[in-house]
Amino acid sequence: MPLTVLPMLGPISVSESLVAIITICVVYLLMRLMRTKIPEGLQKLPGPKPLPIIGNVLEVRNNPHLSLTAMSKCYGSVFQIQIGMRPVVVLSGNDVIRQALLKQGEEFAGRPDLYSTKFISDGKSLAFSTDQVGVWRARRKLALSALRTFATVQGKSSEYSCALEEHISKEGLYLIERLHNVMKANGSFDPFRHIVVSVANVICGICFGRRYSHDDDELVSLVNMSDEFGKIVGSGNPADFIPFLRILPSTTMKKFVAINARFSKLMKKIVNDHYNTFDKVGRSQTYPPETGRELKRPSPNDFCFDTISTALSWAVVYLVAYPEIQERLQRELREKIGMDRTPRLSDRTDLPLLEAFILEIFRHSSFLPFTIPHCTSKDTSLNGYFIPKDTCVFVNQWQVNHDPELWKDPSSFNLDRFLTADGTDLNKMEGEKVLVFGLGKRRCIGESIGRAEVFLFLAILLQKLKFSGIPGEMLDMTPEYGLTMKHKRCLLRITPQPGFEFPGTAA
Ligand code: HEM
Repeated sequence: MPLTVLPMLGPISVSESLVAIITICVVYLLMRLMRTKIPEGLQKLPGPKPLPIIGNVLEVRNNPHLSLTAMSKCYGSVFQIQIGMRPVVVLSGNDVIRQALLKQGEEFAGRPDLYSTKFISDGKSLAFSTDQVGVWRARRKLALSALRTFATVQGKSSEYSCALEEHISKEGLYLIERLHNVMKANGSFDPFRHIVVSVANVICGICFGRRYSHDDDELVSLVNMSDEFGKIVGSGNPADFIPFLRILPSTTMKKFVAINARFSKLMKKIVNDHYNTFDKVGRSQTYPPETGRELKRPSPNDFCFDTISTALSWAVVYLVAYPEIQERLQRELREKIGMDRTPRLSDRTDLPLLEAFILEIFRHSSFLPFTIPHCTSKDTSLNGYFIPKDTCVFVNQWQVNHDPELWKDPSSFNLDRFLTADGTDLNKMEGEKVLVFGLGKRRCIGESIGRAEVFLFLAILLQKLKFSGIPGEMLDMTPEYGLTMKHKRCLLRITPQPGFEFPGTAA
């Protein structure tokens, strides 16, 4: 006899209904059994109620750094949301983030097992892979020591303090020439487009020991792949959060797998070329000089150049948006360095205004609004809340950098907040509050190279150029959400600073 116990399914028999009821009961009981028990003395994490299957994605929307900051005001510094079917703990607030990443560092040092990260660097990415602790630690140590060597090893010419300085200085001067040529041809230039190629070239120096021409196909495809990679990772992959989507065809996922495969192929080709041209005796074909580690250097897809180019591109846009700050920075350069020599890394201590400007760009733009997702390596607790092993954790850097409890008038762009009261020195304590490189065990390994590169490129550009917008055109500073948040595409102009002539323009 047909029954209509479950009207949506249409008429079904008694035996079918029984099977359905038993299945529902079993699933319910299993879910109850699997629900983690909260140990005594600890509390269940607060957070918004999730919808079935999609969780809280509707509340998180397009600008998660803003919506999750708003939620932290309601639920506190440690709360839980559900993205798709995966619970995610969100951390905000300077104290809570320091407690988790520094004091309880080991417990929060994992990376979540996301479906898409298996395709990054064949699942062996230092930044994204879920490597066992021992494997990740050994690879991180090796990469750190290779980067340290690069920052200290002597370059080709004794004019520079190290190979890094040599690379950045040469690339900075080349960038100026390039921008001048684009200006001559088009009357304006797209800052990110040209900066990213220069930054990629410096990183290629670290990773492959060679520099490319800006039109080189290999370099251009590396930059394009990194851009596409950032866009896809930044927009999030639904299959990471709703497991059954993995079996459905997805164009984005196909594209992502293809980019990673192309990237690995290009890496293998470059490494093979490097083997073939490596001159062990003369050691003169590669640059910088060999350290004996050339093939163990980090892969450039591990976060290396997109971050630095985004920072520099924002810097140029802020200079145009705040011309009075641009003038102050140029005055500092004129007074402390002059026009007779190119700035050096050792000038950092003499240019506190420029250092304060860089800190304020990091803070105000917070172009990396979250760290890479973390994951708990064992059952733990934070602020009295229980967090089970293998829970995905988002660290909201943007919230810390805009927290009114930490910063006076956080939405205003004010570099003086990082200077001592008399304005002559950097206020290091304030600088340490800015959160852009993460903290603790997973803290960025490229931090010193990143900071050095942003400083030296900017010092060189500011010494020689004045940046401006196109008269009558609005500069839209609204960031576009992504793995790194970029400013909208814009066109800018340059003119030479007094005392500087573009190459080939001398009378
Ligand atoms: C301004 C420049 C940069 C910024 C703002 C930046 C920021 C970050 C952030 C926020 C993280 C995630 C930390 C976490 O998950 O807790 C990270 C990780 C990482 N960064 Fe950077 N980064 C920069 C430059 C670089 C450079 C130049 C390199 C390579 C030479 C690099 C390599 C890495 C790697 C390998 C990781 C993963 C570390 C791990 O998981 O153990 N980064 N970076």
